Amino acid sequence: MVSIRPSEPEDRARIYNILMGSQIFGKVDADCVDEMFEQAMAKPGPDQYRFLSAWEGDQMLAFGCYGMTSLTKATWDYYWLCALPEARGKGAGSALMRHGIAQATREGGRLMVLYTSSDLRYAFAQRIFDELGFSLHTIIPEYYDVGDDLKIYVGRLSESYLPSEHDAGHDRRPIVAPGVLQWQKR
Ligand SMILES: CC(C)(COP(=O)(O)OP(=O)(O)OC[C@H]1O[C@@H](n2cnc3c(N)ncnc32)[C@H](O)[C@@H]1OP(=O)(O)O)[C@@H](O)C(=O)NCCC(=O)NCCS
Repeated sequence: MVSIRPSEPEDRARIYNILMGSQIFGKVDADCVDEMFEQAMAKPGPDQYRFLSAWEGDQMLAFGCYGMTSLTKATWDYYWLCALPEARGKGAGSALMRHGIAQATREGGRLMVLYTSSDLRYAFAQRIFDELGFSLHTIIPEYYDVGDDLKIYVGRLSESYLPSEHDAGHDRRPIVAPGVLQWQKR
């Protein structure tokens, strides 16, 4: 069973290690996220980055980072999503996405935007975006590098993203406890 919790200051090193062990992100990315984490913990607030940690027992499997997009009215971004390679396929990635999307919806979010790459190593993430009803809005060819395009996914937030008690037949339905959501992999 995977549990999703708002990240705590003690999760900082684990998040760094998840990125460094991801086989896809490197030190530049880990340092960038580390700075975002520091800001988020130093000055928590509604317009700050929101970090989520996915746990299975006492092991942190994955993390996500999302937040309101500054200078917009009710647009949100999901900035980072990463799971340890050995922990993939357990539902942590999609649970992190669902948790962030649901929270953005509760706070009146209108759109959520996701930026990703055409590199095939990101294909699993795009399966999650598709499954959540996000659509591929734009491709900017060679944005990241020659042969590496930027893909922008957009989701229109609505109540359908809120966990519902009527989801009885849905295997990923949340079991809600204060501050903690648990999701079961299909
Ligand atoms: C994207 C990512 C966070 C998903 O994490 P996850 O915990 O594996 O997510 P889930 O368990 O919810 O699985 C998502 C899908 O990927 C599949 N998957 C991902 N990795 C897998 C693996 N190693 N083995 C089997 N299936 C895997 C799952 O089966 C699932 O597909 P399905 O819904 O069709 O069954 C993870 O693959 C990752 O860290 N990728 C590299 C970084 C990345 O792409 N980040 C997003 C950048 S935009």
